[in-house]
Amino acid sequence: MSNYHIKHLEEYFQVYRKSVRNPESYWEEIAEEHFLWHKRWDNVLSYDFDKPEFKWFEGAQLNITENCIDRHLRTRGDKTAILFEPNDPKEKAQHITYNELHKRVAQMANVLKAKGIKKGDRVCIYLPMIPELAISLLACARIGAIHSVVFAGFSSKALATRINDSSCKMVITSDGSYRGSKTIDLKGIVDEGLKSCESIESVLVVKRINSDIHMEEGRDHWLQPLLDEAEETCAPEIMNAEDPLFILYTSGSTGTPKGMVHTTAGYMVYTAFTFKNVFQYREDDIYWCTADIGWITGHSYIVYGPLANGATTVMFEGVPSYPDHARFWEIVEKHKVTQFYTAPTAIRALGKENLDFVEKHDLSSLKVLGTVGEPINEEAWHWYDENIGKRNCPIVDTWWQTETGGIMISPIPYSTPAIPTFATLPLPGIQPALMDEEGKEIKGNQVDGRLCIKFPWPSMARTIWGNHQRYKDTYFSAFKNMYFTGDGALRDSVGYYRITGRVDDVVIVSGHNLGTAPIEDAINEHPAVAESAIVGYPHEVKGNALYGYVILKETGETRNQDNLRKEINQMISDRIGPIAKLNKIQFTSGLPKTRSGKIMRRILRKIASNDTSNLGDTSTLLNPEIVQEIMDNVIK
Ligand code: WT7
Repeated sequence: MSNYHIKHLEEYFQVYRKSVRNPESYWEEIAEEHFLWHKRWDNVLSYDFDKPEFKWFEGAQLNITENCIDRHLRTRGDKTAILFEPNDPKEKAQHITYNELHKRVAQMANVLKAKGIKKGDRVCIYLPMIPELAISLLACARIGAIHSVVFAGFSSKALATRINDSSCKMVITSDGSYRGSKTIDLKGIVDEGLKSCESIESVLVVKRINSDIHMEEGRDHWLQPLLDEAEETCAPEIMNAEDPLFILYTSGSTGTPKGMVHTTAGYMVYTAFTFKNVFQYREDDIYWCTADIGWITGHSYIVYGPLANGATTVMFEGVPSYPDHARFWEIVEKHKVTQFYTAPTAIRALGKENLDFVEKHDLSSLKVLGTVGEPINEEAWHWYDENIGKRNCPIVDTWWQTETGGIMISPIPYSTPAIPTFATLPLPGIQPALMDEEGKEIKGNQVDGRLCIKFPWPSMARTIWGNHQRYKDTYFSAFKNMYFTGDGALRDSVGYYRITGRVDDVVIVSGHNLGTAPIEDAINEHPAVAESAIVGYPHEVKGNALYGYVILKETGETRNQDNLRKEINQMISDRIGPIAKLNKIQFTSGLPKTRSGKIMRRILRKIASNDTSNLGDTSTLLNPEIVQEIMDNVIK
């Protein structure tokens, strides 16, 4: 029986039982047989939920890039590692082989070293989906620098907050980026952001769109000339198992973004293992995940997981709607993609378009389809199954989080029978629990509760950068000896899990995890705004959209409301990014509050969702009369 590659349902159950009965020996065998180590571990796992502290493969030494690149060179040197598909279909795709990747990562790593980057330094990467992005991650990992990728759709303020939070020494960016028919002035955004960043010593700039940009003397350097001069080999820094590999920011329900810290060995083992199984990856497959590397999905399942398996991973620079809505399907046909992994919001958007876009392309290479980021509704699931998979490709609905590092609950294709809207069963080593509000575990089937994980797994985030207390409070305080996910879930009669959505103030919009508090903070800075509350409501394409209730100051009440709405959304765009803009803004004279002054978001959510049949008991509110006013003026 192979622990590493599960091929049928019975094997899954056997492996799962073993992984739960004896997690240490289960993960030890996988780590031993499938990876390259400089020194073996002393201890597979030590943990303490109270501190909280989790250590996997302690004492081991390794470099993840040797596992993702060097060890494949003998057998797969000429195989394509990264298949780059540019924004413009007329521009040629690039096939970057493992040999070439080895060289380009070494050159990049040598440039970083020459600019003074050392083990443990933080490097911010703010790049579009071009090969240099993946290469930058790997170059950091090569020399033990900690990468912090910031999605290149975030605003200059959001970028600066993230740079400052972890005191990055360097930014790697580009002159600009292509996005469909548009270009975006990335370097301008960086320049603006860096006005409030003191830790940055240098900026490396990739030339992508040939725009005319400002280069700050002494700080900014074009990357290509430096690469051209750099040595083509770079000895890997030998890292300890628990050395940080990267920081990735995710929104919290309150306060500043949380810099989730992922470490080296456990993250590598778990992302490699889950990639192999969830996508049933075979040697000659062409795997494509449409996410951006700015999100965890891209880190784990465009870069590290696939490369650790010696896979060919597609990187797409563009958008699904350019030059038309056939772009995804055209790429699948062109590169004979075998595994296709995307988000429900993309499926819903493409499902609204004419079927001709799909039907004019040969999708017969596809073997496995995946979805991630939010619950997939039944209609979208069937559209995906029928029109893309032709009822012949298993769909893996993969549930996981930035914090979990890798996929946690998902079918294994050709093993687990899929049911639409269910993420189905936990992967080996993952022990979910459903909890009630009193903190008791709800056992048995056909139950629902708050989703927790009751045993450590190798790729869990180890802390929040600079704020371990917040890590403890957010994830390990709601339930004792458990990791709390923030999601609700139900377990059906056969033990399948269905994720029902967030139970906190995080809203998932088009697969992007947005905290409502930072958006409220942004709006409240508007001079005419007194107070605001934001909630999510169901949206056909985005999954959820944002609805804002805004109380104006007296000065605001005389102003043109449409202009105010525009200004408010512009503020959100500037401070967070366009993805956080509100779809609907209702001006109101008050917000429903409890006697202790807490906004009753439950009521606001129901009103925004047009579900006012059962608002619950509003009599305990401080201001019950406001509910009727809000309902009367709701924006449909
Ligand atoms: C939240 C995590 C993991 C990569 C993308 C998002 C929601 C994620 C699913 C799914 C239902 C899902 C959860 C989770 N979510 N996948 N298959 N079904 N909900 O990462 O930004 O950290 O967001 O996304 O609510 O908590 P993230």
